[in-house]
This record gives sequence, structure tokens and C-alpha cells, in this order.
Amino acid sequence: MTKGFTDDEKKGLYKAIHSRRDVRSHFSSRLIDEEVLSRILNAGHHAPSVGFSQPWNFILIKDPLTKKKIKESFEVEKENSSRLIEEPKKSKYLSFKLEGILESPVNLCVTYDPSKFGPFVIGRSSIPEAGLYSVCCAIQNLWLAARTEDVGVGWVSILSNDVLREVLDLPNHIVPVAYLCLGYVDEFAPKPDLETAGWLRRLALKDVIYFERWDDKENPSWENIQEIIKTNLDYA
Ligand SMILES: Cc1cc2nc3c(=O)[nH]c(=O)nc-3n(C[C@H](O)[C@H](O)[C@H](O)COP(=O)(O)O)c2cc1C
Repeated sequence: MTKGFTDDEKKGLYKAIHSRRDVRSHFSSRLIDEEVLSRILNAGHHAPSVGFSQPWNFILIKDPLTKKKIKESFEVEKENSSRLIEEPKKSKYLSFKLEGILESPVNLCVTYDPSKFGPFVIGRSSIPEAGLYSVCCAIQNLWLAARTEDVGVGWVSILSNDVLREVLDLPNHIVPVAYLCLGYVDEFAPKPDLETAGWLRRLALKDVIYFERWDDKENPSWENIQEIIKTNLDYA
């Protein structure tokens, strides 16, 4: 393994990061090539994990009956969550397409198993959530790998975990972390759908970075980077 990345290799990684999208529509019904799907899952499996606990499992789903049950849960949960907001936002929210469960050829449930490798995991005693964070690293890895393979991924969290447990036969100690819809797409939108729809916008980088302590945006020992992050950085 060489030490550095060539400029083209760096560009490739940043391109994957900046052009990755959450995909909910325009999935091709073409089955994902199984070599490709394996590479995507292998990218997930090479994520960092607390104490190297690798606490993830990946459940691949294509059975239409399973998908139908999950889609029903989505409909119930979307309706329930819409009660939390007032008009006109409520109607706008309800009009959004927020899943591609039936249209995508493959659904993938990524789960967390806190029991893997016994109760003691290096680094997880003080912050037990580190196990869940590890599973999220795996999800991001596979999401980026999928982008390079022209496979769209959409995360559906408007679901009941109880339904997921029942439909997928999950043992009690297994936590469903992500329900993902995967399929080939012809293009990836340049911006998040929620930004295009005017729901929220991307925050400026300078507004999310503090120096030395919470809420400190002006610190003399960091003045160079303060200048740089004020410009509109675009690596895409
Ligand atoms: C934990 C998590 C849960 C999400 N749940 C949903 C969801 O239920 N439905 C949906 O359409 N998008 C969902 N998304 C996608 C986000 O809306 C999306 O990532 C965000 O709008 C930014 O867009 P981008 O991923 O295309 O950059 C989820 C994303 C994450 C990380």
C-alpha cells in the first residue's frame, strides 16, 4: 500500500463525498450486480469500529412482501410525525417523497449487535453509544462506495423499529440502525432534495466550526483557517 494518494485519487474521494446524495426516486428496477453489491458491503465492513468490535450486520432484502410490510410502517409513521407540525409546513412535509422502498431493487437493514466479542469492548465502557457510532461509520462507508458504483442509497428512518424487529425476525438484543433503499440511478442531484425544495439549506462551514471552546469563532491562534473557511470551499 503506497503512503500517499495521487491528486486524481484525492479528487475521486472528494467527488464521492460531495456528489453522494440521499436517493428516494428514479431507481432503475435493474438488479444490482452482485459483484458490485459485494464491494459496497465490503466497504461498509471496513469501517472503523470501537475496539474493532465490528458490531454491524447487513440484512439484504428483496422479497416484495417484506418490502410491503416495511412500506406500510413508513406510511403510518409519516402520518404520525406530520401531527408534530402545523400548516403550511405540514402539507409540504406530506408532499415530499421520503422513501423508495418498493421501487428500489434491494433494501438493506444495517443492525447493531452490542454482544459481539463479549461484554468488554475496548473504548466502549465510558461511552456505550460508541458501538452505534461504529455502525454509522459502516453506513457512511457503504453509502460513498455505492456512489462510485452509480448505486443510489436512501435512508428511511420514518419507520417503527418494532415493526422492523418483527418483520425481520431480529433477536431482542439486536438494534436496527438503518433501513436503506439501494438501486442504480442515472443521475445524482447536485443538491440535497430538501435544499432544492426550500425546506432547509446547507449551513456555512464557518458557522459550524469553533476554536478551543464552544461558540468561539474568533481566536487569534487560528486566524489563517478562519480566513480560509470564510470562502466558499467547493471540492466537488
Ligand atoms: C440518520 C438519517 C436518517 C434519514 N432519514 C431519512 C428518511 O426517513 N427519509 C428521507 O427521505 N431521507 C432521510 N435521510 C436523508 C436526509 O434527508 C439527507 O441526508 C439530507 O437531506 C441531506 O441530503 P443528501 O444526503 O442528499 O446530501 C436520512 C439521513 C440520515 C443520515
